[in-house]
Amino acid sequence: MPKTLASAADRHDLYQRSVQTPDRDIRWICNAFRKLAGRELRTFREDFCGTAALSCAFVKRHPENTAISVDLDGPTLDWGTRHNLTRLKPEARERVRLIQADVRDVVRPKVELLAAANFSWFIFHERAALGTYFKNCLKSLDEGGWLFLDLWGGSEAHACHSETRRLKGFTYTWDQEKFDPIGGKTLAHIHFGFRDGSKLERAFTYDWRLWSLPETQDLLREVGFDDVHVYWEGAHAESGKGTGIFRRRTEGTPDLSYVAYVMARRPAR
Ligand SMILES: C[S@@+](CC[C@H](N)C(=O)[O-])C[C@H]1O[C@@H](n2cnc3c(N)ncnc32)[C@H](O)[C@@H]1O
Repeated sequence: MPKTLASAADRHDLYQRSVQTPDRDIRWICNAFRKLAGRELRTFREDFCGTAALSCAFVKRHPENTAISVDLDGPTLDWGTRHNLTRLKPEARERVRLIQADVRDVVRPKVELLAAANFSWFIFHERAALGTYFKNCLKSLDEGGWLFLDLWGGSEAHACHSETRRLKGFTYTWDQEKFDPIGGKTLAHIHFGFRDGSKLERAFTYDWRLWSLPETQDLLREVGFDDVHVYWEGAHAESGKGTGIFRRRTEGTPDLSYVAYVMARRPAR
């Protein structure tokens, strides 16, 4: 039997090519840190790191940059080691430390900035559980250090819908199967499709609570972060499409679907 394209595909590779833009994201994070802290970011932690793409992008930027990458899943970390860390120069590779653990159990070494990207922190469904995680982030930061989160929202996020994008050699489908307005929870999947008609169904599944920006900011302040603010993406006047430029804002617009960035500071003595 000839192999289908789906059976030969690598879901982590497809994920990285369809969902992640690590060089661009880490550039944004480093620029934001420089503006807020008045110095360059040198120590970085990536929670829910998956294949550690962001950490690898960070250490490539400067010979003094070091990254700690935390994820529960051994096989995903192994994939990152084989495919992302090996692409780094050996001296840069040594500046990434992968830790297989629950993000709530790691506090050392402290870092200047901790990032939880691609909405991974939505796995915490209860306020108390999210609060415990945020407290752990606080403990893991140097005094005056910053937490970076991204957050997906908008009315389209609170609905069931499916959306397919055509990429080089495959299609990517975001399939939001359920949304429960009482618990604010969603169940969503990523599927990949190939030109021979084969599919990689449910390559990834997400059981998330869609935390809102106000409740997230409130909880961050409640656990002890002292400067919490939101960066909102600009939109092109005619198409309404996002510009990719995020600016600090205190008021947003009622977009159908948006991604916002949140920065929160551990108080400095
Ligand atoms: C959506 S992936 C995120 C990948 C990557 N951060 C990104 O930007 O696309 C979520 C990752 O979180 C990990 N994970 C889930 N719960 C965790 C926990 N409590 N502690 C550490 N990692 C966890 C999973 O193993 C998975 O690799």
